[in-house]
Amino acid sequence: MFSWKEYFNFRPYDDGWKAQRKIVNQAFPPGDIGRFHQKLLSATHELLQILIQTHDFTKDLQSWASVFILDVVYGIHAKETDSYLTTAVKAIKSLAYAATPGLFYVDQISILKYVPEWFPGATFKRQAREWNDLRIKMTDTFNALGTATPSLTSVALEQIDLSQNTREQEECIKKAAATAYAGGADTSVVALQSFVAFMLMHPEIQHKAHSELDKIFGPGDLPSFSDEQSLPYITAIVRETLRLQPVAPLGIPHLVTQDDIYEGFLIPKGSIVISNAWSMCHDEKVYPDPNQFNPSRFLDAEGKLNPNIKDPSGATFGFGRRICPGKHIALASLFIVIASILTCYTIEPELDEHGEPVKPEVEWNPEPTLLNNPLPFKCQFVPRSKEIEESLRRLKSEF
Ligand code: HEM
Repeated sequence: MFSWKEYFNFRPYDDGWKAQRKIVNQAFPPGDIGRFHQKLLSATHELLQILIQTHDFTKDLQSWASVFILDVVYGIHAKETDSYLTTAVKAIKSLAYAATPGLFYVDQISILKYVPEWFPGATFKRQAREWNDLRIKMTDTFNALGTATPSLTSVALEQIDLSQNTREQEECIKKAAATAYAGGADTSVVALQSFVAFMLMHPEIQHKAHSELDKIFGPGDLPSFSDEQSLPYITAIVRETLRLQPVAPLGIPHLVTQDDIYEGFLIPKGSIVISNAWSMCHDEKVYPDPNQFNPSRFLDAEGKLNPNIKDPSGATFGFGRRICPGKHIALASLFIVIASILTCYTIEPELDEHGEPVKPEVEWNPEPTLLNNPLPFKCQFVPRSKEIEESLRRLKSEF
């Protein structure tokens, strides 16, 4: 009802889906996202220098995600677009909310969509209109801002076939780009919010991560992508964060397009099928003591990544042809942000009015929405040494 159906995450498997998906797959080919490393590093360094005096780290993470995803998708720098980010954040939140199965009667009784807006109880219609306005504003504004550096959009625009309908092709690029932005911005923030919560609750794990990092980096050095092989414990933290609190615990619901038989059961055309990533990530046969935050479960006796322990990203980014096309860039971004934050900071509890640390207690949102974020909590990012603090201030003067 608020017209996201033209965007490929909500399209059926048709030519429109194929054309938009091709644009995104081409921009983020698995195993070849090196061209975006510089953009990711630059957004991450910006985040590091903001965190030193943060009052609201979730807002800082949202700005980090917007800086890097806008850069990757549209080739623009978010500083020029700050006023639009609020629109984008609201548009994406509305999408995640509305995509949760069972929240609106109209999802089950589709005739309700013909009820007029003024009809008592028809708030969903007014809501849909407001959310539709946000969608249009978000899609059109970012596109109008142009393509300053190489990006998903600039690559796709270069490949437009001038012998065909160019307006249609531009519309397809616009929708593919908006879907990639919508798919990437909030999901990455939710993963990092959970990471911060786990670090706050498990100082001993931060300590272990600091030891791994300190073996490689001297004061003032910052991690780069080539360090990934040498930092298995950081990779294990990324995996354990995505496992214990998956970003989208029930994936994105799918609609069966034809009758199907699965293990003797009929799944009729039109059924909603939900993949239970939560249950796969909490299967105690695969992950013993599944409710414990324990990154070491992914390591072998020598501290290397153990290939026999299932990487939860096999479940948390979806499956088959609809698998998340941003999976590789998302994992790369989580690695670099987590490694960089832990190189520079200790995440500590807030102090109360007597200067005593407030006992960290974090809960995850019990409301049924598509994304699984921790409820707001406070913490502080304390630079790990004087040298690090100085190098963060130097970084600040570079931006
Ligand atoms: C931690 C970060 C992320 C997580 C956990 C995540 C997870 C998911 C999941 C579970 C799906 C549904 C797959 C299915 O239907 O089987 C999905 C789809 C999608 N994701 Fe991601 N995602 C993340 C980051 C990103 C990023 C960075 C981008 C783009 C830059 C992105 C773009 C998309 C798009 C466009 C779809 C729809 C694909 C389709 O319907 O064909 N995601 N993602």
